[in-house]
Amino acid sequence: MTPESFALMTPKRSDAASLQDQLDRVIDDLLASLPNPDHLSPNERRGIIARYTAVLEGNFIYWMTAANLSVVSQEAHAVIQDNLHEEVQDNHPGMLRKFAIAAHAVPTDSDALAIYPHLEDVRLFVGRLSAMRIVLMMAFFEGFITRFMPYLAELATRQGSAEQKYTEVHGVCDVVHTQELFRALQAEMTLAQEPLPPVAELLEGVGLLRTLIQSIIQPRAAEARTP
Ligand SMILES: [Fe+2]
Repeated sequence: MTPESFALMTPKRSDAASLQDQLDRVIDDLLASLPNPDHLSPNERRGIIARYTAVLEGNFIYWMTAANLSVVSQEAHAVIQDNLHEEVQDNHPGMLRKFAIAAHAVPTDSDALAIYPHLEDVRLFVGRLSAMRIVLMMAFFEGFITRFMPYLAELATRQGSAEQKYTEVHGVCDVVHTQELFRALQAEMTLAQEPLPPVAELLEGVGLLRTLIQSIIQPRAAEARTP
């Protein structure tokens, strides 16, 4: 089946796993678009780390909290709250800030501005508290973060940093988090009162977050892709 025809389908209530293949493809494409670190200037390396920090540091827990507010099943609440406990108790935002400081890549005004329009789009989407769409977006986020960590660590090393706690922790724990979020999604799909929307609609948040991540990787290219 082509990705286009899959997008028009309505997923079965029992089949969150079919959506995981779709997310894996989006992540594969993003990773394939990463510039070769050999070809990046020190300022381009700094920019990627800084924009990543600007997106993640203050928003990850906020968006996971929105997921918690939106879901109805006990199972999804338990999964999301476990995730939030870990984020808060282990001070993941602080871990990321230390990583950025050590790589001389603390976000500046222009880093924040480069991601701002796409960040705002995700915030407006998250504010609608649409449970399955947000859980899918967060499963995509966790999946991307895990697979992005070796690249981020490489950029930091080239910036002269030896601080790798953030990348080491997230290269491991987010594999489990992604699987758990698919279990949460499955619980929400099973309980949904209304007919499930087509795949393309369920992936609305995934698309918005993908564009935001593109603005981390190549800010000018992301602008060109936006109508
Ligand atoms: Fe985290």
